[in-house]
Amino acid sequence: MNIIDCVNGALELGVVGGGTMGLGIAQVAAQRSLGCAVLEVDPGARERARSQLTKALTKADERGKLAGTLDEALGCITWAESVKDLADCGVIIEAIPEIKEAKLGVFADLDEVCSPRTILASNTSSIPIAALAAATTRPGRVVGLHFFNPVPAMQLVEVVASLTTDDDVTHAAEAFVRDRLGKQTIRAKDQAGFVVNAIFVPYLLSAIRSFDNGVASAEDIDAGMVGGCGMPMGPLALCDLIGLDTMLLVADSLHAEYQDPATVAPSLLRRHVDAGWLGKKTGRGFYDYTDGSKEG
Ligand code: NAI
Repeated sequence: MNIIDCVNGALELGVVGGGTMGLGIAQVAAQRSLGCAVLEVDPGARERARSQLTKALTKADERGKLAGTLDEALGCITWAESVKDLADCGVIIEAIPEIKEAKLGVFADLDEVCSPRTILASNTSSIPIAALAAATTRPGRVVGLHFFNPVPAMQLVEVVASLTTDDDVTHAAEAFVRDRLGKQTIRAKDQAGFVVNAIFVPYLLSAIRSFDNGVASAEDIDAGMVGGCGMPMGPLALCDLIGLDTMLLVADSLHAEYQDPATVAPSLLRRHVDAGWLGKKTGRGFYDYTDGSKEG
């Protein structure tokens, strides 16, 4: 049975939120000639997202990463202005900021307008899927699909079934990200941070604490973990890539679940967010990206 059922021949995929992750997911879909509607409710954010995605697909074309032509890839993307525009999608992946109340609102809105057959997924890093599913009248059709940043480069997607997710929905969502988006999947328990972030975020927070405590410079902490542990990227540069606002929200949500001191957000992380130094996306985080010398 094909349970990813696009109503009236409509799009297979909808993405809510055209930020770091939503655009990455849309880019992968377009690279593979899969139609994708991206919802950004704020017109300014929508225009920024459109221009960023055009740039990213142009680069992907230059690198030979598109299944078809650049025009075809750009034509795969439609820009949605309200949840109603996603009503007939087969699968919708929510990728708005890691704020539980905001996500609950999006799930309730999607539930109201979408076909009962639509699968509703979240790219949340740390919020249990059961909590999001409870905002809908179709908890059996809500599943976690956790992508990694940058989505076009990172193979893994964690597939998270909550206590209430139907088995055939989990299988269909898993097959969708594997076969249609070309990703590798692992199954993860519905706990805050799933598999990867529950293990990895305490390490990133510990790197911030070391920097805050003056153990070494940001460059030396990063060089230490790359040269000494074989990490592909230093932890502070990685935090800048993830976004320090996202890091803070994820740390808070892990701490709410586990109460583990290793998940407490360091003061320096909070001060960066207070200052609007959110990492690469704002030009400044633990590193300064404004003069183009730091790639991150
Ligand atoms: P972001 O802040 O870069 O993008 C979020 C986007 O959602 C913004 O463009 C914002 O305008 C838009 N948005 C906000 N409310 C909306 C609404 N009601 N409807 C439509 N659009 C709305 O956030 P990012 O980093 O893309 O994170 C999104 C989700 O993905 C979060 O749950 C985060 O925890 C998760 N995630 C983030 C990763 C990262 O490395 N940044 C990695 C894996 C998961």
